[in-house]
Amino acid sequence: MTLVASAMYQNQFTGRTAVVTGAGRGIGLAIAQSFAESGASVLLIDRDEVVEEAAETLRAAGFDVRGLRADVTDEEAMKSAFRWVDELWGRLDVLVNNAGIITISNLDDLSLAEFQRVLNVNTTAMFLCCREAAPLLRKSPSGVILNAASGQARQGFIYTPHYAASKFGVVGLSQSLAKELAADNIRVNSYCPGIVKTDMWQYNDREWGKRLGDYAPGELIQEWIDDIPLKRAAEASDVANLLLFLASDAASYITGQAINIDGGMFMS
Ligand SMILES: NC(=O)c1ccc[n+]([C@@H]2O[C@H](COP(=O)([O-])OP(=O)(O)OC[C@H]3O[C@@H](n4cnc5c(N)ncnc54)[C@H](O)[C@@H]3O)[C@@H](O)[C@H]2O)c1
Repeated sequence: MTLVASAMYQNQFTGRTAVVTGAGRGIGLAIAQSFAESGASVLLIDRDEVVEEAAETLRAAGFDVRGLRADVTDEEAMKSAFRWVDELWGRLDVLVNNAGIITISNLDDLSLAEFQRVLNVNTTAMFLCCREAAPLLRKSPSGVILNAASGQARQGFIYTPHYAASKFGVVGLSQSLAKELAADNIRVNSYCPGIVKTDMWQYNDREWGKRLGDYAPGELIQEWIDDIPLKRAAEASDVANLLLFLASDAASYITGQAINIDGGMFMS
């Protein structure tokens, strides 16, 4: 298993617990692994069965993790997920709302059901998990919520009005909760990745590529990477290491922020 977390976070989260949604693959798996490597007990939640294998691999490596196959939009399932965290570890320090979906569609073909499905997973379920986690986070000396936004919370891209709306929504939701939960010493921030090498981006490359021109696989993403000041896509570990910092005591004065992690793609 390749290590993800920067060595500077070794044992930083020992005795703390984290929940990471959408943790079966991609950025979420890297985040879950990085918190486990840094000493935390971690619950990985994903609607896909890959989460069971991911948790098993981490457990076999000696980490205190559990995997739960559940959909973040399912209210009862989320209530029982956080009850389980309480039973297992009796505390929650870090909630990472990473689960998210994207679809690419021109306006005329975008159904109301599809628009609402993307909003439901990316934004509404985030509210749900924050609400269910809050009673446990309030008991932590340093509760932290980290919410997956996107470069599309900075600027909407073509053919993704539902995704852009959902990610702008994430930033507003996070700011509002940051103000309310500050009284409980819970910090709430969101993060805005640019291009990260995951399954999601393979889909994006294919579907945007079809609509924006006659792009061969990989060509469109390369064109966009060429415009990034740092001239590369992010690894999932780049995002995971930002989150370790934001969850750490070193970030104890940072709340209500949306942090770009995109190689300089957006600078405001
Ligand atoms: N990859 C990128 O370039 C990029 C850029 C900006 C933002 N993001 C955001 O980062 C997050 C992770 O992206 P990724 O690239 O790792 O995606 P991914 O598609 O590779 O993985 C997402 C995971 O979330 C899970 N998931 C989806 N809907 C779920 C639900 N309803 N309940 C539980 N689990 C669910 C999936 O099963 C999958 O395992 C998303 O919120 C995404 O919008 C990604």
